[in-house]
Amino acid sequence: MRVLLVTSSARGHALADALNRSPQKPDIISVCANNNPGIRALASEMHVQDIMDFGKIVEIAKKAAPDFAVIGPDDPIGSGLADVLEELGLPSVAPKKELARIESSKGFARNLLSKYGIDALPRFRVFESRKNSFRALAEEQKMYTFIDQDLRGEYVVKYDALKGGKGVKVSGEHLKNIDDGVRYAIDCMKDCGRVVIEEKLAGVEFSLLSFVSGKRVIDMPAVQDHKRAYDGDTGPNTGGMGTYTDADHSLPFLSPLDLARASEINKLTAEALMNECKEPYKGILYGGFMAVNDGVKVIEYNARFGDPEALNILPLLASDFVSICQAIIAGNLSDDIVMFEKKATVCKYIVPKSYPEKKDEKGMEVIFPEKLPENTRIFYGDVGEDEDGQLHLGGSRTAGIVGIGKTIAEAEKLAQNLCSKVRGPVRFRSDIGTDELIGKRAAVMKELRSK
Ligand code: AMP
Ligand code: GLY
Repeated sequence: MRVLLVTSSARGHALADALNRSPQKPDIISVCANNNPGIRALASEMHVQDIMDFGKIVEIAKKAAPDFAVIGPDDPIGSGLADVLEELGLPSVAPKKELARIESSKGFARNLLSKYGIDALPRFRVFESRKNSFRALAEEQKMYTFIDQDLRGEYVVKYDALKGGKGVKVSGEHLKNIDDGVRYAIDCMKDCGRVVIEEKLAGVEFSLLSFVSGKRVIDMPAVQDHKRAYDGDTGPNTGGMGTYTDADHSLPFLSPLDLARASEINKLTAEALMNECKEPYKGILYGGFMAVNDGVKVIEYNARFGDPEALNILPLLASDFVSICQAIIAGNLSDDIVMFEKKATVCKYIVPKSYPEKKDEKGMEVIFPEKLPENTRIFYGDVGEDEDGQLHLGGSRTAGIVGIGKTIAEAEKLAQNLCSKVRGPVRFRSDIGTDELIGKRAAVMKELRSK
């Protein structure tokens, strides 16, 4: 069994680890954007190179003759790497380009859910760039009216293409007034032709990821991410500073009805994708949800594992990841081959001190404890290893440290202790997974639903 793994980050290390734990003991042919020490230790071939260079990936695939490919990040998935590999006869655990528009175009995702009557969206409109200046002015006027009158000034503007979570601006946070919002929307349209403007929701965010093969959809444990850079949910947005899951595979602030609804929305969306694109979606469908006063709403869809979400979810996988990949590809995915341990996890990301604003620490040394305590994991991200075996910081997130326990509190302590032993110009969020922060989320939910 040989698997081509195209990745870049700590999510890639977690995927390599899940593949490596398979009783089928696959050879991992890694194509990785950096010399990731975690992936290198597990791979039988390590190709460090640009993961958007599809020509090179095809060359590697032809030589290595893998049985299937797993593609981690959004960029190669959104640009159609699964289509290119399929032409070689190599199936992928990742959707093809047309289906991956569920992530790569926010306009497509919203229009799809609307068309198939999946009633879970904030109020939205997609605006298109117009060449004719009279029409452009009319479109701008429509934006003002939509924001001011329909959304009463509470809105979000979303760039309609992949931008690593950085294309979204929220009123009251990044956009001070309606002029700001319209200006940003026009910039987005100039850049990529379309922009989404939608209602700003009040609620608590969570992720529900599912394995999908056409209409067969099997959920993973629900996860909560923390996007803000600093403790107390302050500072700029990041790729995600840490995450947790609970032993019951739900989250402390969700009702059973909320989780069941998010699960139903993922199923309906997979079905809608199949009907719309006349082709089964094969891969991971990642629903980004917000629990609001009267239920659950969709704020984004991704066509891949989340990072850090994968770092929590994959270590809990008790069944064979290779068999799951094979079943996704063959179209015979079933509940009995997907099992997760009933344990809680907390992941905290170690990041360079100046992340995400600057890259001042790039190249500096970072030292991790040699012996890992039981029930902990380290997944390496943007960190390279030199010839002497020293690890050096890249500019992005360094490593996800995961604690696994019977409760979130137990998992949090394990992750926190291990994080505090990492040496170098790095930091992490101490509050992720603590009773205090989780209590705050539960209080927000209670307050919203008591009205
Ligand atoms: P996205 O890339 O669509 O997930 O957006 C990035 C972040 O913007 C989300 O994690 C939310 O914190 C925020 N956001 C996105 N859409 C909304 C919305 N409709 N209402 C409130 N916040 C939002
Ligand atoms: N955790 C956010 C993402 O992977 O997009």
